[in-house]
Amino acid sequence: MLDHSEEDVGNIVLLEHVNLQVPDQPLAILFYILGLGFTRDPYFNIGLRNMWANVGEQQFHLLTRPAQVIHGHIGIVVPDLEALEERLASVEEGLAGTKFSWSVKPDHIAATCPWGNHFQCYAAGPPFGDMALGIRYVEFFVGRGRAADIVRFYDQVLGAPSTSESDKQRTLGRVKIGRHQWLVFRETDEPPPSYDGHHIAIYVANFSRPYGFLKNRGLISEEVRNHQFRFKEIVDPENGSGLFLVEHEVRSLHHPMFRRFLVNRDPSESARRYHRGRDALIPYKD
Ligand SMILES: [Fe+2]
Repeated sequence: MLDHSEEDVGNIVLLEHVNLQVPDQPLAILFYILGLGFTRDPYFNIGLRNMWANVGEQQFHLLTRPAQVIHGHIGIVVPDLEALEERLASVEEGLAGTKFSWSVKPDHIAATCPWGNHFQCYAAGPPFGDMALGIRYVEFFVGRGRAADIVRFYDQVLGAPSTSESDKQRTLGRVKIGRHQWLVFRETDEPPPSYDGHHIAIYVANFSRPYGFLKNRGLISEEVRNHQFRFKEIVDPENGSGLFLVEHEVRSLHHPMFRRFLVNRDPSESARRYHRGRDALIPYKD
């Protein structure tokens, strides 16, 4: 008998933004807007101090401060990999002398931002549901023997379904978010850099239970205001020992920006190849 559990969604319903400080806005514009083809949010942070880059229903928040780098990579879904290749080639000259690089892999395009953040860009298709453009997952490198305990924290504290797969040496943990998004924790032997303060923002259906657990253990790093709190330490839910650091901005569905409509442009539009009325991009598959 089918149990239809594939229809279930866990308590984390949306991974909305990844916050990565950038030291230089012109270089960030070249990489995120021209290179990756994302859209600068036209309504918020339109000056030089910060930029919000819209990616379908997700965003990058790019505050002008010393660079932050995720030890791992970010998985992106884009409508068209060939068009992405053209765009990345077009910014090579402008990003020369930085850590920018890109290469074509068998099933994705790998790109590195000017400050060393790694992206894997996949073509929209069946594994990604109806997502034609968006942040599909964030993958963090974690120490040996930690991934299973980390995803147990998400399962027990945040109510997010999680799985872990092990081979002889390492475990890979996955945390399911909403319909088509994930957090991934991959064990490596690479020594981790010290945590630099980058953060992710998630929306949770049940807000009070994770808050209560974290509050009782002194783990709230920013108290509730405007329907959100923050924590940054992932701990073993049984014994409280620290496992990993990454700040989470945790919002309830009452947050005024939940499911805010994000403007997305079609980056293939140009004055020479213009299609009247099609400036906007609909970030969903047909
Ligand atoms: Fe944020």
